Amino acid sequence: MAHILVIDDEVEVTTFFKYFLQKMQHTVTVAHDTRQINDVIENDVFDLAIVDLKLPDTDGLAILKNIKKVQPSTQVIIMTGYSTVKTAVDAIHMGAYDYIEKPFDDILKLKQIIEQALHSQSLQTDELDMISEETGFIIGANQEMRRIIEIAKKVAPKNISILINGETGTGKEVFARFIHHISSRNNHPFIAVNCGAIAESLLESELFGHEKGSFTGASQVRKGVFEIANQGTLFLDEIGEASLQTQVKLLRVLELQEFMRVGGEKTIKTNTRILSATNVDLETAVQKKEFRSDLLYRLEGVKLCLPPLRERREDIPLLIQHFTKRMQKTSTFSPVFSPKAIEVLQNYQWPGNIRELHNVIMHTLALADKDSREIDIKHLPEKILDSVIKRHVPASADVSFEEKSLHTNNVTPLRKKSCTDDFSALADEFCSELLKKIEVENGFDLPNLLALIRDIETKVGHEVIKKALRQTMGNRKEAGRLLKINPRTLRYLLNEKGKSVPLGE
Ligand SMILES: Nc1ncnc2c1ncn2[C@@H]1O[C@H](COP(=O)(O)OP(=O)(O)OP(=O)(O)O)[C@@H](O)[C@H]1O
Ligand SMILES: [Mg+2]
Repeated sequence: MAHILVIDDEVEVTTFFKYFLQKMQHTVTVAHDTRQINDVIENDVFDLAIVDLKLPDTDGLAILKNIKKVQPSTQVIIMTGYSTVKTAVDAIHMGAYDYIEKPFDDILKLKQIIEQALHSQSLQTDELDMISEETGFIIGANQEMRRIIEIAKKVAPKNISILINGETGTGKEVFARFIHHISSRNNHPFIAVNCGAIAESLLESELFGHEKGSFTGASQVRKGVFEIANQGTLFLDEIGEASLQTQVKLLRVLELQEFMRVGGEKTIKTNTRILSATNVDLETAVQKKEFRSDLLYRLEGVKLCLPPLRERREDIPLLIQHFTKRMQKTSTFSPVFSPKAIEVLQNYQWPGNIRELHNVIMHTLALADKDSREIDIKHLPEKILDSVIKRHVPASADVSFEEKSLHTNNVTPLRKKSCTDDFSALADEFCSELLKKIEVENGFDLPNLLALIRDIETKVGHEVIKKALRQTMGNRKEAGRLLKINPRTLRYLLNEKGKSVPLGE
């Protein structure tokens, strides 16, 4: 038995809920205006509040804020009409548990939402994990991703359209499949259409199908995507690329929820959930008159923006594991990525996001020695290593780099032997070989030779420092310590053009 507050100015609504909730064995308090609302919120504690979004003297969002402030553990369900669904979604962003649409046609569903809110769980975590595994959509631990999933969980079972925004490769399509799987439409088709790739001449036929003989070449009846995706989900991918002609057709069918096959005479009803995705900013496209604002309004019942991979670096190890495991399904090769290799991958910028990470993992595994048990820094593609080092050791780097440096706690030192016996023997040998070749009888350009030797010194210094920086993943202080040189010398040898400074300084 729970204690529930119902807030609505319409007495019929509060009376309905009183009867309905009492039958569910709950106790009910009702409030119709701000004074009553403030009074009950201050003086009573509720498990759940069902709040109308539109009230004559206040609004549901303000009440939500107030309830969450005074009674943070009270769950809030927002009641809304069709025209205010977007605001109801804002309410979820602000902490409401869910929203319900008036009129309440589906009493069973209403009962279910109330019970779920009281038990504070919609989809169980293990169920979500299973769907994530099935659809190949890794959720991870990133807070922004978690927030997006929470909203997706709430809106997936409804018919509201969802616009997925995000840079290329952030997983918009896998996310759309995931939403379809957690929705109640998951027994029906998920159909993806690339809106930029539909040929204008085939547009209507692609979307709505055609009757036999409706045009030259139409030898069969063909269903369009709106018909095939009936009861299921239609994913309009790259919606920002849709031509204005495509946009007009889409808008019409979304508004009317019906269409006619090309050459057909009867209208066909469609019940399709629309998900769409884009990596362009559609608001800007609307301003530039490249995208219809009325279509955007229809598509973005809810807008969810997937973060770029560089903003969810904490999920990189899990994604690496996922891709490695996926490859192991088709191969016996089962190495793991070393902590240092993972760290380098976490420090790369990933302009191509998760798609690029996927490709890099596949590429690295394909090139690695099949006996390797561990993938280490040296196995990673050159472009990743170079970019990570450059980013952390810019040519004009100053001492403040240390503040930005990577964690290097468990860095293995370069071989300590470097400057001792082997190298002094090598240097002696080089020296005597060189001297043997020098004859002064006919004159000799000594300054030129010394300049050459200084160049060798600079080159050797430069290359050894680069080696040390790779080893320490760009940490200058650590590299300097390994090489027994101070930061000034290191900086000098790395940055200064043509000059040299004695290494033993
Ligand atoms: N969350 C994720 N979990 C696992 N794999 C992912 C995830 N997101 C993306 N991927 C991988 O990245 C690849 C690209 O994903 P997807 O095609 O969904 O990106 P996108 O955002 O639609 O890119 P684009 O804008 O270029 O079309 C997929 O093949 C998939 O392997
Ligand atoms: Mg895509």
